[in-house]
Amino acid sequence: MTAGTQTTATRFSASTAKTPPKLKGGLPVIGHTMAFVKDTIGLLQRTHDECGPVGRFKLFGKDMILFVGPEAQEALFRLPDEVLSPNAAYKMMVPVFGEGVAYGAEPARMAEQMHMLYPALRNNRMRTYTEIVARETSGIIESWGDEGEIEASAFFGMLTNFTSSSCLLGKEFRNEMSEEFARVYYDLERGIVAWGYIHPYLPIPAFRRRDRARARLGEMVSEIVEKRKQSGYRGEDFLQTLMDAEYSDGRKLSDHEITGMLVAAMFAGHHTSSVTTAWTLIELLRHPRFLGEVREEIHRRYADGEDYTYESLRDLETTENAVKEALRIHPPLFILLRAALQDCEILGYRVKKGNWVAVSPMVAHRDDQVFRDALRFDPDRYGPGREEDKRPFAYISFGGGRHKCMGNAFAILQIKTIMAVLLNRYDFDLVGDAIETDFQGLVLGPKPPIRIRYRRRASAAV
Ligand code: HEM
Repeated sequence: MTAGTQTTATRFSASTAKTPPKLKGGLPVIGHTMAFVKDTIGLLQRTHDECGPVGRFKLFGKDMILFVGPEAQEALFRLPDEVLSPNAAYKMMVPVFGEGVAYGAEPARMAEQMHMLYPALRNNRMRTYTEIVARETSGIIESWGDEGEIEASAFFGMLTNFTSSSCLLGKEFRNEMSEEFARVYYDLERGIVAWGYIHPYLPIPAFRRRDRARARLGEMVSEIVEKRKQSGYRGEDFLQTLMDAEYSDGRKLSDHEITGMLVAAMFAGHHTSSVTTAWTLIELLRHPRFLGEVREEIHRRYADGEDYTYESLRDLETTENAVKEALRIHPPLFILLRAALQDCEILGYRVKKGNWVAVSPMVAHRDDQVFRDALRFDPDRYGPGREEDKRPFAYISFGGGRHKCMGNAFAILQIKTIMAVLLNRYDFDLVGDAIETDFQGLVLGPKPPIRIRYRRRASAAV
């Protein structure tokens, strides 16, 4: 344990550490599992309301301790992996990423692998990604005509699939393998089911399909890596970064590791960005004043046909605040998990080896003490004089501490680019406004169908 963590977490002494308060109710043995499965957010919120910043309930026979509030979240995020482990908590992802990759590797090895992604996230690469996202978005709306209707979750799912596969996997995947890739990726995604918490290699059809898909993806990546090596072509993408990367001992990544890292980046970045883009547009359409301000900022910059460049997009503060606010109200990753590998004490509470520990961006962001009028969509809260996201560990849509999202800047840039291209050319209207959150799956998004009508702006530059 590092010196910096001594203040918040130490091996507890039985005399001083308190047991976290327990949520009322729950059945013998299975505890609150049924309530968790039926209404996860409701259960998390109830734990916070009844127990305060630290609360405990029973899930799948184990204690889960929920930490809510900036101080509690900071205490948790600052602990090293040897004490609170994401790898042990997310081991259902190991067959998807691959043994020895990301959560399937030792913490030090995983940290080295994550570090290898940095060159793919530098400013010069962001410039390339901006061009790709603007080109893909413009390309896809070229066939739209003057007016029509989209189903937003399918539309943004497809669009971010194109942009993510171009930026992460490279143009070969985007141009030659996109259909097969979509099929394989679908089987991988469908292989993430609750059974994985019990054992990630149970002999069930979903896991068999997942394992076949992972093996096929490995072959596809190997094929492209080989072709690139033969031809000397160098991509401006994550694949190239990983092909160039080396461990500290000089060893290059194997094709298995490259595949796993690419899958990890796709899983981390694709669905999360897609649902956030949909929520941003939905929330703006529900809030005409903010929509007007965002549209004005975009038109001022691009109505005359100026290129969508990295620099110009970075300047769109009003649009960025709207994206951030959509992400605060609708954090796609609503619970972040760790497994306690050692007994420890957090904020004076006892956490025992084997406990699950969690923070919930969803519950954290609904606290009026931290975000004024928390349930209201209000992008002004990030503006001068308020800056509610600046309080350390308050705004946690991208997590915090050593495992904070590495792709946050890329994600926000991508969503801003899509918004700029769309709102510069078209006006949009929601058909009905009763859109709810879809609580199926690990990444929460708006529940389809989400019907949105579009109409070309009279003065839109093409
Ligand atoms: C709106 C989009 C996104 C959201 C809301 C999001 C959210 C998050 C969150 C909450 C975590 C922390 C997980 C935890 O602590 O358990 C995380 C980690 C991570 N994210 Fe993102 N993410 C997004 C987009 C992306 C993109 C586009 C990429 C890459 C291209 C990416 C790469 C990663 C990686 C590699 C990690 C793991 C970091 C580590 O464990 O050290 N994310 N993300």
